[in-house]
Amino acid sequence: MKILHVVGARPHFVKLSPVIEASRDYGGIINVIVHTGQHYDSDMSDSFFLNLNIPSPDYNLDVGSHTHGIQTGRMLERLEPILLNEKPDVVLVYGDTNTTAAGALASYKLHIPTGHVEAGMRENIWRPEEINKKIADHCSDFLFCPIKSTVGNLLKENITNERIFLVGDVTYDTFLLNKQKAIKKNIEESMIKAGKTEDYILVTMHRAEMVDYYDKVKNIIDALLEIKEKIIFPVHPRTMKKLVEFGLYDKLLSANHIKVIDPISYLEFINLLLGSKLVITDSGGVTKEAFYALKPCVSLDYSSEYNELFEMGYAILTCGDKDRIINAVDIFSKNELKYRADDLFGKGDASKKIINILINQLDGHKCFQ
Ligand code: UD1
Repeated sequence: MKILHVVGARPHFVKLSPVIEASRDYGGIINVIVHTGQHYDSDMSDSFFLNLNIPSPDYNLDVGSHTHGIQTGRMLERLEPILLNEKPDVVLVYGDTNTTAAGALASYKLHIPTGHVEAGMRENIWRPEEINKKIADHCSDFLFCPIKSTVGNLLKENITNERIFLVGDVTYDTFLLNKQKAIKKNIEESMIKAGKTEDYILVTMHRAEMVDYYDKVKNIIDALLEIKEKIIFPVHPRTMKKLVEFGLYDKLLSANHIKVIDPISYLEFINLLLGSKLVITDSGGVTKEAFYALKPCVSLDYSSEYNELFEMGYAILTCGDKDRIINAVDIFSKNELKYRADDLFGKGDASKKIINILINQLDGHKCFQ
């Protein structure tokens, strides 16, 4: 069976890695990796391939950074001839980015069986990612759901039961596969970069709806300046650009308790996460990873795809509001997290289930003669 994976952004590489790993257990699976080039900095791409033992991409579409229309359009245009030439048995797309939508749409239009890993996530608000997820889901024959609530989301949109597979979250597979390596690696370099090794808060922020607006960014930076605890902040390229443009970068650098560092690799990130006392983030992926690492999470976001984590008290929504951020940090600093809901994101075997399902369902199916 030939599986063609369309990836292109940092979170995809984290999701692709365990699926490739699971496919290695079966003889006869050929993996073809197409990298759209949405993320191209070595910190945002190459380091993940190296860290997570992913083979180099077979194709790189080199689309780079553009407006949504140009970026997605170029992906579609460049994907089509590759799909026609490779004739895969199935195309897999991951997550919710422009790469995800383009991959699913290109595959659907050529009538190739398509699978969406991390299907059914909904926030029901306007967001580029919201439509990307919906396009991927509605183009897919295999909807691999990470968490129970996502199944209901798909049924509500009239996606039929036989296309829906609740397998668990592949990022949990990745976390379990790499946790020991991350601990052992004891990424001294990033700790040195970060200054100290005592208790600290880990911060990430990259969402366009957040970082592209001065008032929102200023509010968050003011909160970080006011929290007098040690903070480590690996900065996404989009965020870096905006911080500089808004004149906030120097303010951050001049704060003694905040250590600003470049984007880091997956193992470095998990290492920093495991050593932290809590996490402040606008990322849904990092909110989940904080849960896997048993760390409380202060979300900068307005809503979440993982309401379960908020309802159970593992995470608090702050809508990027300065006082709410400071208050949430205070709540988590005073109260230890005790309860842990097991199996919320599966058992760490989501990728194996995905490969099994594809083998069972596609056996004998020929899309291209
Ligand atoms: C994208 C995804 C988002 C995902 C995130 C993970 C979409 C619409 N958004 O957002 O869902 O959570 O990736 O990081 O697909 N840049 C660089 N170097 C890079 C990549 C980006 O400098 O390697 C800069 C460019 O200036 C670019 C900006 O970051 O304009 C944004 O990159 P882009 O991939 O468009 O969106 P993200 O904000 O990363």
